[in-house]
Amino acid sequence: VEADVAEARLRAVEEALKLVKDGMLIGLGSGTTLRLFIEKLAEKVRRERLEIYFVATSYDTSLTASKLGLTERPLLDESPEIAFDGADYVFPDKWVVKGLGGALFREKIVDYFSREYIIIADWKKLRERPTGIPIPVEAHPFAAQKVVSALKSMPGVIQASIRISGSGKLGPIITDNGNFIIDAVFREVENPETLEKELMTIPGVVSNGVFALKRPSKVLIGYPEKVSVIV
Ligand code: A5P
Repeated sequence: VEADVAEARLRAVEEALKLVKDGMLIGLGSGTTLRLFIEKLAEKVRRERLEIYFVATSYDTSLTASKLGLTERPLLDESPEIAFDGADYVFPDKWVVKGLGGALFREKIVDYFSREYIIIADWKKLRERPTGIPIPVEAHPFAAQKVVSALKSMPGVIQASIRISGSGKLGPIITDNGNFIIDAVFREVENPETLEKELMTIPGVVSNGVFALKRPSKVLIGYPEKVSVIV
């Protein structure tokens, strides 16, 4: 990422780290911002000799954090106290769109089952209005083509297609859960809660990137020279 974005993310990450206390079970999201959070968290844990346990939202996060010496726990009955996560788009009333990195399914589980979740983002992800936004939808491969047609027939959908790898490899990307991701572009999202629920009524859909039914308790927005907190 560009230097000003990196600086902004670091500021937001440092703000988020203040919330991590000794003995906590926390949730760790996925993506490049979270990678930075995990690196800084590992430094803090070492420096302050803390005991921190984490539940991971992807293989990437699990391995990144484990390699840095952090202790992983499976998601059992105990709820993580706080989940820390990134986002792709942040709207003023704190609902977010996630899943550009493909980890939305486990992110939603960990974020929603934690007592609270906190979004760490940079100012470039702020949007005034949800227009022309691609919403990632995770679907079982068996249903994927039908999910694409169902999405295309929803009012306000401009386009829907199965995500391909983009790295020169042919075929769909496969999530950590063995599924496909379908990106559906909406002209305008009028009610994010309704959309989040409605997407789940399509057979074969296992999750979607609208995070509105449970809102983050805080969104930390990093700027190159400051952090602003949306509560
Ligand atoms: C992963 O699927 C996503 O939900 C990430 O949380 C989101 O894409 C943010 O990623 P970056 O921090 O890499 O922008």
